[in-house]
Amino acid sequence: MPVIPRSAIGARFIGWGTALPEKVVTNEELSKTMDTTDEWIRERTGIERRHIGGTTASLSIESGRKAIQMAGIDPLSIDALVLSTTTPDRTVPATSAAVQHGLGLRCGAFDVNAACSGFVYALVTGHGLIAMGMKRVLVIGTDTLSRITDWTDRNTAILFADGSGAAVIEAVTGPGQLMGWDFDADGSLEELLYAEIGGTLHMDGKEVFRRAVRIMVDSAEKSLKASGLTANEIDLVVPHQANVRIIEAACKRLDIPMSKTAIVLQETGNTSSASIPLALFDAVANSRVKSGDNVLLVGFGAGMTAASAVIKWNQS
Ligand code: COA
Repeated sequence: MPVIPRSAIGARFIGWGTALPEKVVTNEELSKTMDTTDEWIRERTGIERRHIGGTTASLSIESGRKAIQMAGIDPLSIDALVLSTTTPDRTVPATSAAVQHGLGLRCGAFDVNAACSGFVYALVTGHGLIAMGMKRVLVIGTDTLSRITDWTDRNTAILFADGSGAAVIEAVTGPGQLMGWDFDADGSLEELLYAEIGGTLHMDGKEVFRRAVRIMVDSAEKSLKASGLTANEIDLVVPHQANVRIIEAACKRLDIPMSKTAIVLQETGNTSSASIPLALFDAVANSRVKSGDNVLLVGFGAGMTAASAVIKWNQS
């Protein structure tokens, strides 16, 4: 379990933004083209509608631009772009290259792919770059899963969608916001959720569900321990937005009430890398987070991967 050295240079969020495609597809609409119902999808997943469209670069540029505007900084002052995506626009080059150009950045840019855990991987990597001397890093999580979804397969088409969330983090003089973190992966579970290059998603939903709860709880407990906090000191949990029943089961095991969770999946479906920033910045916009709050981010995804981080909101 990594413990952040006291001497490490810390960072905090100074701007953020999100992007969702305009086109909305409701459960009702899906039930017209496949053997499912609005009621079944709501009850089994919590999802009511999802946003579909755009490319990974276009959504990233939209959320990234909002984050830079909110931070009120010159794009040229950004030292690195870390883009988390499991749905790149091209095999080569990394989608972050197009995003770097689209945002007018002049800095290093690279993609991170850890499926739905990716945003937390990218965010912690961004903090690591700052610990190594960078001043500002733009971290973006974007996925366009609709492009790799088989729209005739009711097993997956009801779940996946598109979106993006971005944040600028900046070096601070104090300890910064990141209190503890954890990365995990078990590649022996690759066959539970995969898409071949050029193909669509295949998923063993039941088994993913079962494993997801376990690995989320395990990762969250490691981050809590690293941050020196207990579960009841957490003010808000921002879980990966895959299925509300997975979130309920994980929170029950962590002994954290559902009233302390950020949930947007009814509106967004599962947007993979975008899901945690979409839920986090929605909670912030709705004044559910105040300075000094302890926020637990916890994701899981194909691989299977898991990642979590404890953030002290607005800490410099
Ligand atoms: N609409 C209507 N009925 C459906 C359906 C759908 N979209 N999908 C499956 N069913 C049926 C099944 O055929 C089954 O019927 P049966 O009882 O007659 O055999 C019944 O509903 C129950 O299916 P089951 O697979 O047991 O449902 P479930 O409660 O496990 O829910 C998932 C299915 C996919 C929603 C759930 O397993 C899940 O969310 N898994 C995790 C997936 C995930 O998070 N993936 C992303 C990871 S990042």
